[in-house]
Amino acid sequence: MNISQEEIQAYIDTPLFRLISRAADEMQLECYLIGGFVRDFFLCRPSKDVDVVAIGKGIELAESVARKLGRHTRLTLFKNFGTAQIKHKDVEIEFVGARKESYRSDSRKPIVEDGTLEDDQRRRDFTINAMAFCLNRDRFGQLLDPFNGLQDLEDLIIRTPLDPDITFSDDPLRMMRAVRFAAQLGFDIYPDTFDAIVRNRERIGIVSMERVTDELNKIILSPKPSIGFILLEKTGLLEIIFPELIALKGAETKEGVGHKDNFYHTLSVLDNIARQTDHLWLRWAALLHDIAKPVTKRWDPKQGWTFHNHDFIGEKMIPAIFRRMKLPQNEKMKYVQKLVSLHMRPMQLVEDEVTDSAIRRLLFDAGDDIEELMTLCEADITSKNPEKVRRFLGNFRIVRRKLQEIEEKDRVRNFQPPVDGNEIMELFALPQGRVIGLLKAAIKEAILDGEIPNEHDAAYRFMLEKAEEMGLTPVKER
Ligand code: CTP
Repeated sequence: MNISQEEIQAYIDTPLFRLISRAADEMQLECYLIGGFVRDFFLCRPSKDVDVVAIGKGIELAESVARKLGRHTRLTLFKNFGTAQIKHKDVEIEFVGARKESYRSDSRKPIVEDGTLEDDQRRRDFTINAMAFCLNRDRFGQLLDPFNGLQDLEDLIIRTPLDPDITFSDDPLRMMRAVRFAAQLGFDIYPDTFDAIVRNRERIGIVSMERVTDELNKIILSPKPSIGFILLEKTGLLEIIFPELIALKGAETKEGVGHKDNFYHTLSVLDNIARQTDHLWLRWAALLHDIAKPVTKRWDPKQGWTFHNHDFIGEKMIPAIFRRMKLPQNEKMKYVQKLVSLHMRPMQLVEDEVTDSAIRRLLFDAGDDIEELMTLCEADITSKNPEKVRRFLGNFRIVRRKLQEIEEKDRVRNFQPPVDGNEIMELFALPQGRVIGLLKAAIKEAILDGEIPNEHDAAYRFMLEKAEEMGLTPVKER
């Protein structure tokens, strides 16, 4: 890559960086932009956060910069870590003093020990993250790249500056980060670095689940998540952090009948979804849609391999997985559960006859998530047989058309009972309870089955008949 100092200067010639430069010169401190910001400049990616390293007093530099910035500035000091953060408008700047040793080998707690710029760069995770731009006025925009990060960027390589065993024992999360950068950027992990991940994989266990999950989410959100998952599998990390996915691996054959390898199938579905949407939880639904196939797998001499109820069992497996992974236990998880439990429905619809009532029930169960469910089902078609793919996609088009027709006609997507509970309670002078519940359920079923339209008067008449069958008499005439 041929980039001149002038180009770098032009890029970083902003009032903010000039101000940091002045503050550092006044304190006679060497000062550099480092890490993701520098990497993203060469990748032509926008970078939100800025890391600044000072040779010596990082915190004092931050204090001086904050004073100079004045209003709209928040300074936070992390004295134990020897770092400081400035939030100015929507930019976050992290200040740190250069370190000789960034982490103690027995824990993740950093020790603060003054070092040179190169000491600091050596202790960073990857060569592509260890490049620095000088901010001091006399060398403004000079690139310092002692570990050839720029060359690795060009060669699309993730590699540690130091012996990778040392880099990874400094912070084992970096093993996940290596995979995450490979997935985000489409890079390869350098063989030495890769082998060290395999050797050190068990050390991921000392990292907090939140940090691991953060990286996993970034892998899931990358353009082609399968790259990350295949690397996680090959390094042995996946077995430790997500054994349920490893259980999907393999294709057994019996009496000449095989089934597909559900691990690679799941990854294709995830890649397909990733082409359609950046929605994290829809991507999670793709990752988990067949999660219960291993536990439900049976061999039936007549039917061959079956995975009965893997949709419902999968739905039930999700809370434990989310809890362990420190993922939210709220409506986001419920959304993933819902899509997993419904993912077979559109296909079953096609296999039977596409009746109006089956469509109504699907609309009722999926509600506003129907579009995303259909996207998931389409992504689930991973057959290599173009004829089959064409047939399935054609069938889903029919289902989509029917869904639209029925929704326009019956509006069951956000079903609200056309006769409400209070009206029934008043009519029969009954308190809220089982009888009211039964009547309401009967109305809903009749509408979904298409016996009556989704309207008040029809539902009211129907409810009176039902009540009479149950031996109820109204106490007031309407
Ligand atoms: N870093 C490191 N080891 C870590 C985390 C971070 O050496 N475990 C260093 C790297 O030099 C990195 C910099 O700290 O570039 C900033 O880290 P962070 O903000 O987490 O990542 P970025 O590289 O900026 O990338 P992204 O914003 O995509 O997370």
